[in-house]
Amino acid sequence: MENIKAYVQEHKDRFINELIELLKIPSVSADPAFSKDIINTADAVKASLEKAGCDFVEICDTPGNPIVYGEKIIDPSLPTVLVYGHYDVQPADPIELWTSPPFEPVIKKTEIHPEGAIFARGSCDDKGQMYMHVKALEYMIQSNTLPCNVKFMIEGEEEIGSKSLSWFVERNQEKLKNDVILISDTGMISNQQPSITTGLRGLSYVEVEVTGPNRDLHSGLYGGAVANPINVLAKMIASLHDENNHITIPGFYDNVEELSLDERAEMAKAPFNLENYKKALDLNDVYGEKGYVTNERNSIRPTLDVNGIWGGYTGEGAKTVIASKAFAKISMRLVPNQDWEQITELFTKHFTSIAPAGVTVLVKPHHGGQGYVTPIDSIGYKAANMAYTETFGVPAIPVRSGGSIPIVALFEKELKSKTILMGFGLDSDAIHSPNEHFGIFNYLKGIETIPLFYKYFVELSK
Ligand code: BES
Ligand code: MN
Ligand code: MN
Repeated sequence: MENIKAYVQEHKDRFINELIELLKIPSVSADPAFSKDIINTADAVKASLEKAGCDFVEICDTPGNPIVYGEKIIDPSLPTVLVYGHYDVQPADPIELWTSPPFEPVIKKTEIHPEGAIFARGSCDDKGQMYMHVKALEYMIQSNTLPCNVKFMIEGEEEIGSKSLSWFVERNQEKLKNDVILISDTGMISNQQPSITTGLRGLSYVEVEVTGPNRDLHSGLYGGAVANPINVLAKMIASLHDENNHITIPGFYDNVEELSLDERAEMAKAPFNLENYKKALDLNDVYGEKGYVTNERNSIRPTLDVNGIWGGYTGEGAKTVIASKAFAKISMRLVPNQDWEQITELFTKHFTSIAPAGVTVLVKPHHGGQGYVTPIDSIGYKAANMAYTETFGVPAIPVRSGGSIPIVALFEKELKSKTILMGFGLDSDAIHSPNEHFGIFNYLKGIETIPLFYKYFVELSK
């Protein structure tokens, strides 16, 4: 596979330009205003798979956004790798904080990416990482080194909960049959230290609505005499954590797996510098659950966070008003063994029970998913580690991530296969934030590393 390096060098400008074209389409799944762009992106992904050399590609209609499916079956008796990725992206706002428009990709140098990074919404999450797989396939087909069968399943609803993908997977078990699922939609420790994500957190996402009086009121005439829904909501939310930053919902921790001290000591070996972490975020200190360090708080521990809160008057100047309603969107990140539906129920029961007289509370569940952990002794993990070792010169470190890809647990349940998370993004790439970017180094290194995964996976499967 010496040739992959040469192939990437020879074609890198084209690889970058092709990705840039894909990034120009604003495939925002959260906002129906972009539904035409969703369709156009699915078409572009389909065309790219055909060009790379798949011998069958189709757009699969679903109750929601289409799924692009492609395959190259060279011999049914050989193993099959199923590549999953998503072509939808997060909304770009707040747009005014972008230093260049989110859907006009440009390459800029940064301290962490001295050779340049592509700035655009979706560059890292996940169009750039997904497209590495398309280019790796192109290489393997061009060089006649594809050692097994490959299937691609690229969806357009990951950022809004993958509802249609669940529908699709349940109905297409035979078509999606595989020996391992390969995903690049996570990160790694640094460009010098690759890592393989061995865990993802689950998620329960809810919206709450607190209603007081039947209309907005004059805050002088009524203030002090009726419950103010915003005051009440703030107090209710504050009560969801105690002084040690433990979550106070009864039963919330019942199924949380406690890691042994040995496992925690193992985790602590991964390189991490607290001062740099604080500096990167302009924080004067970190924060979180007592008894755990930063890298535990954001991976092996469950959390509860308000993602948005609104109500009352937020326009120019001052308006004296007691709002009729207050709202918040709340996410709970869960660890493996916590069941997201049960947690949603526990939250709903608790949150309604702490509502004081004078208001009514409504909890609307949004979406969720189970967490995931995978062992490091599987063939897939070993193959990924061998691939990284070869291209980075050092072995990968297993890391449990704090993010969620809820469909991964469903893959294991429905398709009975393990997922290997070979991520090439960095935490500093600002996914979901303004100025999202993906390093050119990371993009090209991904394209180089992926064919080696196939090679070693097939070797180890023999
Ligand atoms: N690619 C991310 C998840 C991720 C990023 C995992 C980095 C690990 C490291 C994915 O697109 C994502 O954003 N997932 C959502 C969940 C989804 C249900 C909206 C998340 O984690 O908030
Ligand atoms: Mn993603
Ligand atoms: Mn995302």
